[in-house]
Amino acid sequence: MTETTANAGGATTADAEAGNQTLSVTDNRTGQIYEVPIIDGTVKAAEFGRIRVTESEPGLAVYDPGFTNTASCRSSVTFIDGDKGILEYRGYPIEQLAEKSSYLEVAYLLIHGQLPTKAQYETWVHEITYHTFVHENLRSFMEGFRYDAHPMGMLQASVGALSTFYPESSRISDPDLRHIQIVRLIAKMPTLGAWSFRHAQGKPYVYPDNELGYAANFLSMLFKMSEQKFVADERLIRALEVLFILHADHEQNCSTNAVRSVGSSQVDPYSATAAGIAALYGPLHGGANEAVLRMLRRIGTVDNISEFIEGVKSGKEKLMGFGHRVYKNYDPRAKIIKKACDDVFEVTGVNPLLKIAQELEKIALSDEYFVKRKLYPNVDFYSGLIYEALQFPPEMFTVLFAIPRTSGWLAQWLELVQDPEQKIARPKQIYTGDRTLDYVAASERWK
Ligand code: CMC
Repeated sequence: MTETTANAGGATTADAEAGNQTLSVTDNRTGQIYEVPIIDGTVKAAEFGRIRVTESEPGLAVYDPGFTNTASCRSSVTFIDGDKGILEYRGYPIEQLAEKSSYLEVAYLLIHGQLPTKAQYETWVHEITYHTFVHENLRSFMEGFRYDAHPMGMLQASVGALSTFYPESSRISDPDLRHIQIVRLIAKMPTLGAWSFRHAQGKPYVYPDNELGYAANFLSMLFKMSEQKFVADERLIRALEVLFILHADHEQNCSTNAVRSVGSSQVDPYSATAAGIAALYGPLHGGANEAVLRMLRRIGTVDNISEFIEGVKSGKEKLMGFGHRVYKNYDPRAKIIKKACDDVFEVTGVNPLLKIAQELEKIALSDEYFVKRKLYPNVDFYSGLIYEALQFPPEMFTVLFAIPRTSGWLAQWLELVQDPEQKIARPKQIYTGDRTLDYVAASERWK
């Protein structure tokens, strides 16, 4: 505040003042004026803690339920400009990565911060490929779930259980140990995800096929029956890779925040990742594409769209798959997914709901209600249609999100555990309950 203090960026209050990069705050309770440095477009919440009426009173705190305007970390993993519809991983535009890269290369980029050399890429792919198998006890663990268990619940529990198979994973300050857990997690997610899918269908679990690539192997573990080898159509493999790339990271969303928050206790990465899966399980985060399908089915035909749109405009319901907290423009992922629909439907046949979705989009984008509120299609508007065409039941949609998001969660976790500024997550509260009540014994109260 008024005195010169070192801050996060290494700049001082004096530096900030020199460039007029300060905020002047007058506390009208005391008349005291405070100078708060502005660094990287933010002010440190701790600076406000020094604003107090008397020394014995707590300092001022900021109140921000849902962290809508609070930066919780410095990060160099993912950049989003919601107004312009820009998404970049480590500086590379999502459009270029989706068109030219592979999921494992993107995972390497997110984790290591740069694109791999040929040798680095080959080693990385080899490492991931040869850690796809899981301990047989984990298989028995998964078989113990009820016949109709939700695959996301199974995935969450089995990823958490992995920490018991690798107790050394608790040594998170060892870079070699961190690396091997990251490899294991990225490698084993498709295996656990596919087995949780097979479980509900009463089908035998399929072991990984290490001759196949990441997405192709996943499809094999999902759909292989009695054939010697399951080889999916190349166009479907590529469509799944693209979906994996698009879902790999999205900066400080709810599940990433959960991974960081739980990880800040210095727990092992399996437990932190299980927390991310738990957050993603919730309908406000991972479940919107399922809601889009239900909505399209309810609309039924193109003729019913106008009536539906009127219902949305009068506040009776929402147009699912539209709108975003960050994007106030077309979600760049939605554009890419829309294109991927064509490739998938070329193999599977067109999902009849596509026509309704396209017409709905066209009408909404030209309607004053949506234009004024900057409501555009988000990533979930078209993804459910693809997943359905690939024969996935809606319960699997979030699993298909969790598998690729693992590389993003781990890149963020890695950044967290190496960040000297990070502390255990421990927000403040505004206490609204009673104080200093006198306890009355049960024998007195229940008379
Ligand atoms: N349909 C109709 N109206 C909407 C919609 C929608 N989908 N989304 C927002 N609005 C209206 C909202 O009623 C409000 O209007 P008014 O100003 O008259 O009160 C205005 O637009 C601003 O909306 P908001 O609720 O303040 O925006 P938010 O940032 O809090 O919510 C959202 C963002 C994604 C929760 C919301 O747009 C929504 O519920 N969309 C539908 C669900 C959905 O598609 N979710 C998936 C999001 S993408 C997931 C990801 O990135 O991982």
